[in-house]
Amino acid sequence: MLALTDQPIDPRAVEAAVAHPGAGAIITFAGVTRDHFEGRRVVALHYEAYPELALPEMARIREELVARFPGARVAMVHRTGHLEVGEASVVIAVSAPHRGEAYEASRMAIDALKARVPVWKKEHYEDGQAWKENAEFHQALPVAEPEVAPEGDPSGARPPRVMVRRPFNPRAEEDYRDPDLNPYLKLHRSFGPEVIPAADGPGFRGRWGAAFRAEGEARPLHVEIGPGNGFFLAGMAARHPEWDWLGIEIRFKRVVLCAKKLRAAGIENARVLRYDAHHLDDLFLPGEVAGLYVNHPDPWTKGRNAKHRLLLRPFAEWCARALAPGASMRIKSDYHPNLDDFEALIEGLPLRVVARVDDIRAQGSPWGEDDVTTNYQSKFDKRGLPVAALWLVRDP
Ligand SMILES: C[S@@+](CC[C@H](N)C(=O)[O-])C[C@H]1O[C@@H](n2cnc3c(N)ncnc32)[C@H](O)[C@@H]1O
Repeated sequence: MLALTDQPIDPRAVEAAVAHPGAGAIITFAGVTRDHFEGRRVVALHYEAYPELALPEMARIREELVARFPGARVAMVHRTGHLEVGEASVVIAVSAPHRGEAYEASRMAIDALKARVPVWKKEHYEDGQAWKENAEFHQALPVAEPEVAPEGDPSGARPPRVMVRRPFNPRAEEDYRDPDLNPYLKLHRSFGPEVIPAADGPGFRGRWGAAFRAEGEARPLHVEIGPGNGFFLAGMAARHPEWDWLGIEIRFKRVVLCAKKLRAAGIENARVLRYDAHHLDDLFLPGEVAGLYVNHPDPWTKGRNAKHRLLLRPFAEWCARALAPGASMRIKSDYHPNLDDFEALIEGLPLRVVARVDDIRAQGSPWGEDDVTTNYQSKFDKRGLPVAALWLVRDP
């Protein structure tokens, strides 16, 4: 049993779903809503989840637990909608041949659920309300890794891990290299307000207005992944001064080149963050992105490297989470199979294709005048090679 429900959860029913004659122990965990948070009195709560993202993730957690604890059965039910204080928001039942495994699997199940399953809650206080997500959702939780193989396992093999989501760790990467080998590493840290170093990025989550203005008021946030030298970012930010623009770029040199372009053009409504786009949940709350742009993502066509590709299902799921209802997502690429694959892998997500153009030069941009030719795009144009465009919208 894996479910989201807007009705009160019956722990006995969840327990019954894992009971069987081979079970030596059943642990039933109930997470219940408390009447206080950080000193404020909570009077009620409201939970929201996207079933199309949450249920597959719950299924993956169950698969991992069963692979790790042979013979275990796992059932998880998460509540949605309005809850009074004291009601169960989540119930997890685990059965296993022995109690030790049942306790361990139960603990891992709730930790993994809190870290990976996208569920958000609105706490209603006596004096207002605020959206929260599971507090651990974007923390790296330690994965308990036993020193020795479980009793009775003659292979001595380590059991499979139950994965939790790990945030980008820029420190480890920057300390690993000799900072003097790459002058742009130092330069990007001292550049000025146009550049946001990776360590500062997650601190703006849910409050990106503060990256642009001292008063911090929020404006629609438009995000470009991999802006390179910043032609598109600077051009679009100049076209739309009413929005805030954030480029997310992994390479130090391109971060600096991009920031120089913004400064030279006198653009004040754009920033470039040095970050790895494979960890975007570190940076944005659900619905925080008002527009998303991906121009000529590295294609990573070769088999072994294909995992580095950005336009894969986890990215599509992030887009569905992060884009505000009705927000646009625009992709331009010289590598057409990437767009074909992306159209196929959004299946079941609340994303809809609005337009697809296979040769922008011949057919025109789907965004008409509201578009800027990127650096890579002009290279392909000069060689007479077609650049494709895909326009999607997050369902309202
Ligand atoms: C092929 S270039 C395209 C640059 C620019 N968008 C254009 O169209 O001219 C791809 C860009 O994505 C950046 N990039 C690649 N992987 C990235 C990642 N994981 N996170 C952020 N940026 C990334 C690269 O450093 C590079 O600047």
